[in-house]
Amino acid sequence: MKIDHIGYAVKNIDKAKKAMKVLGYDFGDVIEDTDRGIYISFGTKDALCIELVAPIDVKAGNSPVSNLLSKAGPTPYHICYHSDDLEADVSFLEADGFRLLIPPAPAVAFGGKRVVFMFSVDIGLIEIVE
Ligand code: NI
Repeated sequence: MKIDHIGYAVKNIDKAKKAMKVLGYDFGDVIEDTDRGIYISFGTKDALCIELVAPIDVKAGNSPVSNLLSKAGPTPYHICYHSDDLEADVSFLEADGFRLLIPPAPAVAFGGKRVVFMFSVDIGLIEIVE
């Protein structure tokens, strides 16, 4: 599996984009994922792709990054890997102690491709996109 992006939880996507642009990242448009209650924007610098993830409703506290943001503030929180065979890679990782946290579900940020989130007690959260 090759690395697709590093996910970065932020409170305000426009302000975060601005700060990342100062560091030399080029960003695309903001994508609204109403299923998950988040705004997403992808930025690149050198060979690295960063995914900014911000709650649509900061006060509601019901987005996948709300808990993390209240505990840790803006922070990188997952590495996403690209899979050619999602089911096989999930099985492979489960056999080695990774737990399936969020089962395969289409993601608007990836044109409807499925993503899963898995958790390792040793390295935390990873995402896999097919
Ligand atoms: Ni991600």
